[in-house]
This record gives sequence, C-alpha cells and structure tokens, in this order.
Amino acid sequence: MAPAAALLMGPLLLASLWGVSTARSLLSRLGDHVQEVQARLGQRLGEPSPAKVGWLWQPLDPFNSSDQRSFLQRYWVNTRHWRSPDGPVFLHIGGESSLGPSSVLKGHPGTLAPHWGALVVSLEHRFYGRSVPPGGLDIAQLRFLSSRHALADVASACVHLSRIYNISASSPWIGFGGSYAGSLAAWARLKYPHLIWAAVASSAPVQAQLDFSSYNQVVSRSLADPAVGGSPQCQRAVAQAFSELDHGLSEGKETQAALQSEVRACGPLEIPEDQAELLEQLEGLVGGAVQYDQQVGVPLDVRGLCHLILANQTKGPLSGLEDAIQLVLHTLDLPCLPSSKAGAVAELKDTSPQAVGVGSRQWFYQTCTEFGYYITCKDPSCPFSRRRTLSAQLQLCTQVFGLSPASVTEAVTRTNTYYGGQSPGATRVLFVNGDIDPWHVLSVRQALGPSESAMLLRGTSHCSDMAPPQPSDPLSLQRGRWKIAQQLMMWLQEAKVNPGSP
Ligand SMILES: *[C@@H]1O[C@H](CO)[C@@H](O)[C@H](O)[C@H]1NC(C)=O
Ligand SMILES: *[C@@H]1O[C@H](CO)[C@@H](O)[C@H](O)[C@H]1NC(C)=O
Ligand SMILES: *[C@@H]1O[C@H](CO)[C@@H](O)[C@H](O)[C@H]1NC(C)=O
Repeated sequence: MAPAAALLMGPLLLASLWGVSTARSLLSRLGDHVQEVQARLGQRLGEPSPAKVGWLWQPLDPFNSSDQRSFLQRYWVNTRHWRSPDGPVFLHIGGESSLGPSSVLKGHPGTLAPHWGALVVSLEHRFYGRSVPPGGLDIAQLRFLSSRHALADVASACVHLSRIYNISASSPWIGFGGSYAGSLAAWARLKYPHLIWAAVASSAPVQAQLDFSSYNQVVSRSLADPAVGGSPQCQRAVAQAFSELDHGLSEGKETQAALQSEVRACGPLEIPEDQAELLEQLEGLVGGAVQYDQQVGVPLDVRGLCHLILANQTKGPLSGLEDAIQLVLHTLDLPCLPSSKAGAVAELKDTSPQAVGVGSRQWFYQTCTEFGYYITCKDPSCPFSRRRTLSAQLQLCTQVFGLSPASVTEAVTRTNTYYGGQSPGATRVLFVNGDIDPWHVLSVRQALGPSESAMLLRGTSHCSDMAPPQPSDPLSLQRGRWKIAQQLMMWLQEAKVNPGSP
C-alpha cells in the first residue's frame, strides 16, 4: 500500500480495532471509566494547567550495568504550590495504567500539596501508557517488566528529579499510590527508606495470592450489606440469576441463541469457552459494582444493582441482570458484551502498546510472573458460576506467555518472600482500605506497630480515599481522609525535627 493511502486508512483501521472486537474485561473497563470521569471532574477549561509533562531516561535493565539500553519514562509535575527547595515532595506512583495530568492535580498529593507547599510529581510505570521501552510488549522485552524494576525507576527518578528541580537533600519525599501502585508506594518506602520518607498505600494488595477466591467472598458479603444498599435477598437474587444463566447455557442451541440476544452477547454462545468468557464478563459487571461502589462515574453501584435485580418479582432476577447489562453497556458505549474466548486470548497476545488506560497484556504478564490474583468461585458463598477455575486461568499464562503453572506458583511465593506479604516490616507506612472493596483482604488491615499503621474504612470501596470528596461520602471516609492528613502532618514534623533519620 502507498504511504498516502496508508495514512488515510489509519483512522479507519483504528476505529474498527476499537469496536466490537476488543474483549477487554468489563472490570478493567469499569476501572478506566471511573478514572476518566474523576479526572475530568472540576476541570476548568481554558485555564492553563499547572501540570507539565517531562521525560526521564531510565536504564532498561537497572540490575545489569553492562546493559546500556535505555528508555524514556514519562512523568508529570506540578510546581504551583511549591514554596521552598527544602519543601516536601509528594510522589504519585503509577500502576498498571497510563497517567495523565490529573495525577499531579488530584488525589492525596494534589489535594494536600497547597497546605504543605509541596512539589507534586507523578511517575508512569514502565511498560504502561507512553512509558513503553523500544521493542514494545514482545515477550523478550517483558522480562524487564516487574514491580522490582518499577521500584528501581522510582529510586532513580528521585535522584534525577532532585537534580532537575534543585530539590534539597533534606526534602522529605512522600509516596502515594492506589491498588497495585499502593503496594509500590509501601514497597518503595520498604526497599528505599533513604529516598522515600513515608508512604500512604491505598487499597494495596501487598499479599500476592494464586487463588484469590476471597475476592468473591467479599463481593457476596457486600451484596448483602445494608450499609451500601445491599440485602441478603439481593445476594440470593444475583446467585439465582447466574445459576439460571449457567444452566440455560448448557441447554442447547435454541436456548443459547435466545440467551445471546437477552444478555446482549457479541457472538454465539455454543462452545463452553465462550460461555465461560461471557459469565466472566458478567461477573466483572457485578464485581465492578462492588469494587467501585458509590464512586463518581460508576454506572451501577451495589444499591443500583440490587434495585434492578429485585425490581420485578414476576420477571425474575435474570431479567433484572439484563437491565443491568443494558445500563452498563450504554454507559461504557459498548454495542454488546464481548463473549469470545479466542478474542480475549488474541487481545492478550497483541504486542502493540496502548497509550491510554490499563495495559491488559502487561498486567496479565505481571500476574503470571509476580502476583497471581486469579479470582475464582470456590467459596460456598460465591454467587457466580463455578466454571471460573484456577487451572483455566493458569492455562492462559501458558497459552499467552509459555509460562507453566508451576512457574506461576513459584513466582507468587517468591514475591511474598521478597516483600513480606501482609507483614512487610516497613516503617512510616499508612495502609488505607475499605471493607466493601474485595481487595482489602490482601492488604494490611490492622496496624503492625506504631509506625506501620492501618485504617479499614466501613462502607467504603476500592481506592475511595483517593477520589475527590463528595457530599455523599460516608462518615468513615470523611474521617479517613482527615486521619491521612493528620498522619502526614506527623511525618512532616518528624522530618523537620530529625531530617537525617531513616
Ligand atoms: C547483561 O548485559 C550484557 C550486555 O547486554 C549481556 O551480554 C548479559 O547477558 C547481561 N547479563 C544478564 C545476567 O542479563
Ligand atoms: C536549579 O539551580 C540552578 C543553579 O543554581 C539554576 O540554574 C536552575 O535554573 C535551577 N532550576 C530550577 C528548576 O529551579
Ligand atoms: C414486571 O413484569 C411484568 C411482566 O413483564 C409486567 O407486566 C410488570 O408491569 C412489571 N412490573 C414492574 C414493576 O416493572
């Protein structure tokens, strides 16, 4: 094809790639959507943004000094509040998705910076967003992707940014992050205490776990929790809807075809793999309502989902679930629910990087080589299909990356040995979790000592503390945010009195 024609074709090709064929999980789509909406919140159009982008050269292999290859890592900086070179630096650590300008304007760093005259910096995780090394997402390259590499980048960024912005050696750096990046914030303090003075780790699943069946245990409990609009009837109705669907899918072509149109699946539901894929997407829909409960931008929270599921006793819960599907597809602007296993596998095998949002292939690689976190339906209380097994998900590591189930199991053990799991033994780390959030079971939920403190916020979901405050926030969340600010004050006072102490 002539170059000019190729250029003209470009946008068309892109548009079709972004269409129906993308099988990305509904859960990660919901996460992206919530983040996008919150990033736009309160944005003042036409005003110059104080967020500036920058690039740092980082070694591709920080653990091998004879390897000279390097790549550009993106960072964002907001100097608007920074008053003196020995003022604090608030570092927002990036996780498994791209970072935009809101990473230095919002969240704890952006919100707390004015009071403390802090410099706000964010660092995009290597291999995500625009910080992908040359060579892309090829398997040979992905061996330079791990939390340990990401932490080495944080350390080297502290050194380089200090030089670029004339940051004083006595300036305390405070790490912040949510979810996987929350773990990174805690681990940055654990592994580089001479560089990171303290850290706030929000919803950080520091314990790697192969079979994460407790995720659905919490989903089940949260659906039954009146504090967020759930009820035992709602929990049972969700279980009934899934069980009806699961049975219907095994019944034969006619029922399968009828179900395909009723649940708005993109393709036929005749082979078990595709049925399992559909069930998994729907599990993500319910899991997303729980994980992002009450957050701005979420199409459906526990209260809304329970309302739909229980709305019509005559029609039954499956019809309520169909209404929920309709609503979520509409909000995410999707024509139908992806239901092709082959499509999902092809997407994980796709090595072209995606500049915006969650990096599905990269994150899946990190689960296979570090964390596991495979959500299964083993617990008796799990309201979903029992088809979602550990072995099926481990098979995917083999299929996509050629990694054996044994190697994944070993990797998870190694991660916990390296970081200490739920007893990391760090100092000056505050772990913040919500008890509605399924991830809180893998975090530190109780203080492990005077300087490794923890808060478990009642009625609060995943990373809610990092979201912009809302008038409707539960009291526990309002108090939680206040306590984070208090903790920060204590750390910064300590830094003033005793700047040299580790
Ligand atoms: C370190 O880098 C050099 C130069 O690229 C390479 O030859 C060597 O195999 C690397 N060592 C390890 C342990 O990766
Ligand atoms: C840092 O200090 C140097 C020398 O004192 C100065 O030239 C430079 O402009 C300063 N940079 C910033 C970002 O303040
Ligand atoms: C429930 O479904 C039945 C049958 O489709 C319908 O006649 C009725 O109006 C519905 N009730 C509500 C409250 O939506």
